[in-house]
Amino acid sequence: MTSQQLARSESPDALTWWRHAVIYQVYPRSFADGNGDGIGDLPGITTRLPYLAALGVDAVWLSPFYRSPQADAGYDVSDYRDVDPLFGTLDDFDRMLQQAHRLGLRVIVDLVPNHTSDEHAWFREALSSPAGSPERKRYLFRDGTGEYGELPPNNWQSIFGGRAWSKVPGDSQWYLHLFDSRQPDLDWNHPDVRKDFEDVLRFWLDRGVDGFRVDVAHGLIKAEGLPDFAGHVAMVEGSGGAHSNHGPMWDQEGVHDIYRSWRRVLDEYPGDRMMVAEAWVHPPARLARYVRADEMQQAFNFDYLLTHWNADDFRAVIDRSLAVVGEVGAPTTWVMSNHDTVRHSSRYGLSIPGARPRGIDAAGEQPDEALGLRRARAAALLTLALPGSAYLYQGEELGLPEHTTLEAEHRQDPAFFRTGGAEIGRDGCRVPLPWHSDQPSYGFGSGSATWLPQPASFARYAVNRQDGVAGSTLELYRSALKQRRVSALGTGTLTWLACAPGVVAFANGPVRVFVNTNDYPVALPDGRAIVASEPLLADGQLPANAAVWLAGT
Ligand code: BGC
Repeated sequence: MTSQQLARSESPDALTWWRHAVIYQVYPRSFADGNGDGIGDLPGITTRLPYLAALGVDAVWLSPFYRSPQADAGYDVSDYRDVDPLFGTLDDFDRMLQQAHRLGLRVIVDLVPNHTSDEHAWFREALSSPAGSPERKRYLFRDGTGEYGELPPNNWQSIFGGRAWSKVPGDSQWYLHLFDSRQPDLDWNHPDVRKDFEDVLRFWLDRGVDGFRVDVAHGLIKAEGLPDFAGHVAMVEGSGGAHSNHGPMWDQEGVHDIYRSWRRVLDEYPGDRMMVAEAWVHPPARLARYVRADEMQQAFNFDYLLTHWNADDFRAVIDRSLAVVGEVGAPTTWVMSNHDTVRHSSRYGLSIPGARPRGIDAAGEQPDEALGLRRARAAALLTLALPGSAYLYQGEELGLPEHTTLEAEHRQDPAFFRTGGAEIGRDGCRVPLPWHSDQPSYGFGSGSATWLPQPASFARYAVNRQDGVAGSTLELYRSALKQRRVSALGTGTLTWLACAPGVVAFANGPVRVFVNTNDYPVALPDGRAIVASEPLLADGQLPANAAVWLAGT
């Protein structure tokens, strides 16, 4: 079934399915391993799609599975039009897509336009061509400074640590890489780059994908002249709640032309294809510019992800988020975790609940696992009751915690290596999923191999331990997703309700939502509980760190 057929066979609002969709992020290396080599793959995903359909999500977003030397787990693409053998083949992709569509799931793929791999044909050509040659013009090669060109062209730092420039061996030039040295930044002012990416979009649209998640969407254009920047660069600024990617490499006006041209390409296709921006920009009004009517359809709401476990903060971020995108007519998204952040079930168990450390290791503060899980379950009922579109990160429906004691010898994140271990990195949220507690690799693959070791605690979270078990996190997500659909919460309207301090309370359609962020129980108004993250107390009160949906307005 094509996307077009999928849209036609659904309700009239299917044409804006992304306005209210729940989209599940699959991190292919860690979702399901079809061939037992320890790395997840496309056939593995295909096998598990019925699980996702039964969970009740609308769409799946796949992190990169393209040909890549895997210097940054696939976010370093050497061929945008092929599948890396680690993950399978193009035929495997087609089979996966077909099966997803058959099950009524849409599929969004990741597009990585800011940089290629150093093994991309263009970069190889550039390195083997002289300074000033046309082959170098597709990237940001510049002469060095200092008497002999021994110093980099400017003072920019890489997001993964160290300099953002590497010197070309045996040559006077340096090339820019905002991320790892194996991820050279493209020059988006070059017509070849623009043309090629439009072709890449068409390549995947022709195969039937329903949309794209656009990686580092705020980074493609750099300020003219690449001026020095003394500020700190980071994907996320967790401290103080605001992430402020100001600086000459971020959020430049020119990126919007690119998205307008891509939008025109998408609009040529039937079936309401969409794009979602990964843009760590602040304040929210800047983010709203990525989702204007002729640009992308959605942007990840990282302000929500960064919000601490605090009712006032939740209310404020929800109000702000709804207001700013409302002004441009776009839907809000809600996201709590992804493959770049410590899982929220662990963040909420820290002494500053919701703080965003750059990874956690055995030497760091260990989250209170039970408390973090309790809050994460409540947060799921908050997130899934909000109007707009929600993103889930694989494993959160199991309440999966971060692996917080992974030994350094297993780490693979380039950020860990480039900072000499100062940044612990993102491996802890990327550990392969547990499907069955009694099988090798907890059912991730047919053998015991897993590319990152799974902690013993994963057995408790395995799908088989939760499937059909009343009160399990998996069943909580299934019920919430079902009720969300039945009550059309994604297209609803939020109205705040009066409530006690420390409580987030609102009505959306036929549902009233109460989230108690306090460490003590609170009274609830009358009403039948439709879904609750914890059993209500005998006197009808809502327990500490818990949430409930009550029927009635
Ligand atoms: C991705 C990261 C990746 C980086 C460089 C991010 O936005 O989500 O996983 O390391 O871009 O591509």
